[in-house]
Amino acid sequence: MNILILGSGGREHAFAWKLAQSDKCTHLYIAPGNAGTSAFGTNVDCSPTDFIGVKKIVLDHEITMVVVGPEDPLVKGIHDFFLGDEELKRVAVIGPQRDGAQLEGSKDFSKQFMIRHNIPTARYETFTKETLAEGLLFLETLSPPYVLKADGLAAGKGVMIPTNLADAKMELTEMLANAKFGNASAKVVIEEFLKGIELSVFVLTDGNSYKILPAAKDYKRIGEQDTGLNTGGMGAISPVPFADEAFIKKVEERVIIPTINGLKAEGIIYKGFIFIGLMNVDGEPQVIEYNVRMGDPETEVVIPRIKSDLLDLFSGVACGNLNEKTFEVDSRFATAVMLVSGGYPEDYHKGKVISGLDKVVGSIAFHAGTLKESRDKNQESREETIVTNGGRVIAVTSYGETMEEALTKSFANAERINYEGKYYRRDIGEDLKVYYS
Ligand code: AMP
Ligand code: GLY
Repeated sequence: MNILILGSGGREHAFAWKLAQSDKCTHLYIAPGNAGTSAFGTNVDCSPTDFIGVKKIVLDHEITMVVVGPEDPLVKGIHDFFLGDEELKRVAVIGPQRDGAQLEGSKDFSKQFMIRHNIPTARYETFTKETLAEGLLFLETLSPPYVLKADGLAAGKGVMIPTNLADAKMELTEMLANAKFGNASAKVVIEEFLKGIELSVFVLTDGNSYKILPAAKDYKRIGEQDTGLNTGGMGAISPVPFADEAFIKKVEERVIIPTINGLKAEGIIYKGFIFIGLMNVDGEPQVIEYNVRMGDPETEVVIPRIKSDLLDLFSGVACGNLNEKTFEVDSRFATAVMLVSGGYPEDYHKGKVISGLDKVVGSIAFHAGTLKESRDKNQESREETIVTNGGRVIAVTSYGETMEEALTKSFANAERINYEGKYYRRDIGEDLKVYYS
């Protein structure tokens, strides 16, 4: 089977690494991919939201399955595009159609969905420019900190958590009256602040049955001890000590089953991943958000812990017989430490030469923002180098019988890889050590 993966991050490198291990995988294509994905298939220069370009790749290379990495093409309706096209309608697409993708594409839709299906989540109200005055009054009924969320996709930047009322009012006004996030903040969800420990639970579903994938903890802030700006994620750990069997059972009964049943009841055919952002509030799960894709860097620890054939699971999603597929999880820990470019998540440089990838031992270097470049070595010959091409550059993933063992390997290899401006958090997993002492 020829497969096309859409995306260019560590998540897509991890998908490529895993799918390439399947006997049923004939050839992989990745659009646009990165320097890491090219070790497992052919990178094709095409944006995941260029549907016409994607169609051409599918037809040119007789692709029969498309795995959609990021949310953008899903929210824009790539799956619907395939179903509506005579030449593409039989191609399997892993990822929901536009209606299901609203779970991530609209915070207001996802909150309403949770309320309709009795799924535990923070109390909220939604406001528009026309109801700004009511929104300002609603803020007065809450206690700090305040949680303000732009309704639409805002590249992970649309959630603001001001700590005092004056800032919250200013922020709401900026978002609604001054379109701080453009059309994405035409509606704003204001919700209660949940106090607890955050984790991510991932589900793969064919719309009826589902597999609960290993849970993971992400480290979102740029600075150690969770300080500074939010990023896409600076590291990840799986399993999560405070997500024990009893907690996951609660998540399954109160969140996963009502979500799958809710989608079905609303006539939404959902084939793909559901990423449930959760707060563990004194042992009780509360949903912070849904995403309609895998997380990054969570994928770089979740996928390595899946022992079963991922392509076989994806075929189950496409054919509607996921319940017949075996699903086995590796009991070892997996840890990922993300190497980023100096300055990230604000301005940073690209094109810095990366060295030391060949010195990595005992870890997997999943490439995020990297690019293969051909440069003049001397007048006669050229050499291929790998350069930085994004804020998040490489996720260093390791296995261990204990979390510490896995982390020790990830940190050791994080030191072996070098480029100008390299930065990573040295405290990944630090907060979880109390659970193992
Ligand atoms: P989201 O984009 O919805 O994942 O929100 C970004 C981050 O804001 C989350 O990962 C949480 O850390 C935080 N957050 C969102 N909603 C809440 C909430 N109701 N209470 C506390 N923290 C929240
Ligand atoms: N790491 C968080 C995300 O992928 O949204």
